[in-house]
Amino acid sequence: MMAGMTEVIEVNPEHPDPAAIARAAARLRAGGLVAFPTETVYGLGVNALDAAAVRRLFQAKGRPSTDPLIVHITSLQALTVLVSERPAIVDSLAARFWPGPLTLVLPRSPAVPMEVTASLDTIAVRMPAHPVAHALITAAGIPVAAPSANLFSRPSPTRAAHVLEDLHGRIDIVVDAGETTVGVESTVLDVTGEQPMILRLGAVTPEMLREVLGTVGVRHTHEPPPTGPLPSPGLLERHYSPRAPLTLYEGPDALRSLFRDATAAVAAGQRVGLMLARGDLDGATFSVEPHARQNVTVRELGPELSDVARTLYGALRDLDNASVDAILARAFSTADGLGLAIADRMRRAAAGRVVHT
Ligand code: TXA
Ligand code: MG
Repeated sequence: MMAGMTEVIEVNPEHPDPAAIARAAARLRAGGLVAFPTETVYGLGVNALDAAAVRRLFQAKGRPSTDPLIVHITSLQALTVLVSERPAIVDSLAARFWPGPLTLVLPRSPAVPMEVTASLDTIAVRMPAHPVAHALITAAGIPVAAPSANLFSRPSPTRAAHVLEDLHGRIDIVVDAGETTVGVESTVLDVTGEQPMILRLGAVTPEMLREVLGTVGVRHTHEPPPTGPLPSPGLLERHYSPRAPLTLYEGPDALRSLFRDATAAVAAGQRVGLMLARGDLDGATFSVEPHARQNVTVRELGPELSDVARTLYGALRDLDNASVDAILARAFSTADGLGLAIADRMRRAAAGRVVHT
C-alpha cells in the first residue's frame, strides 16, 4: 500500500495542459497509480505491461485478484501487443464505436501479464473517448489497465472527489477534469465465441450493437448465476453498492409503495434517502412532520435518462454521506436503450431488495 499524499492535478476536460499530462504520464510509465477521467467513470490507471504495478493496483482498490481489468488504448495499432487474434468483427465494431464506451473481450496475447486478466485467456480492451484519457494514454505510450477508481464494491466514481473519498493516500495522482459525461461503465461485449455476447450493459446499447452485428446475446443479471467460474465478475451482485441498504421499487405502483414505506420508516425514527425522478414529489402521498424533515434526504434524477445515468452513482454516494439508514429508490426502467444499463446498476445496488408492484 502507498503511504502519503495523493497529488491532485486539475486539467481542462477538453484541452488538458500538455505539461500536466506529461507529469501524470511519466508517473504511469514509472509504475505509479494514476486516476483519470474517461467518458464513463474515473479509472485507476497503471502500466498494463508491468505486473508488479498491476499487483499494487489490486491492493490499493482492495479488489480480488480474480477480477480482470480493462486495458485502455488510443490506437488500433496498440491492439497487436495485447491480442493473439483479431476476430474480423473487431474492425467494424471499432470503426463504429471507438473511441467510446464499448469494451471488447478478445483472445489474450501471452505478452500481457496474467495479473491483468486474472489468468483468463481473454483480455478486455477499450478505446476511451475522453480527451484527457486520450492525451494521458498517448503521452504515456503504453497500454493502460484501469478498473473504475473506487474501493471494491463501492459505486464507481464520476468525480475526482469520489476517487479521493475512496483512495486518498493509496494512489499517486488523480487527474481532475470535473464530472464524467456518461456516468455508467462501458458496455462489455465478448466477441470470442460463436455469438457475440453482452456481459455488461452500458451506453452502447443492444440496439446499437445489433446494427453492426445482426444479433447479440445479453446476459441479464437477474438470470440465475451460472455454475463454475463467472464469465465476467462484474456480474457479481452487490457490486455497485452504497453502504446503506437500497430497496428498489419497480412496476406501475412503485411510487405509492415507496412513499408508504418511507413514511413508515420516518415515523419509526429512521433516516431515509429517496432516489426519485424530477416531479415525483409533486402531489405525492408523502408528508412528514416538520421535526422529522431533517431525517429525509432527497435526490431527484433526470429529466433525461442520460441525466439519470450521469448522476446515479454520485447520488448514491451523496445519500451515503448523509448517513441515511436506508435508501428507497424508484426504478427508471425502459424496454431498451440506456434504461437497461441504469436498471442493471440499480438492481445490483439493491442486491435482491426489489419490490415489484
Ligand atoms: O467504463 C469502464 O469500463 C470503466 C472505465 C474506467 O474504463 N472501467 C471499468 O472497469 O468499469 P472495472 O474493472 O470496474 O470493470 C471491468 C469489467 C468487470 O466486470 C470485469 O469482470 C470485466 O470488465 N472483464 C474484464 N476482463 C474481462 C475478460 N477477460 N472477460 C470477461 N470480462 C472481463
Ligand atoms: Mg468497477
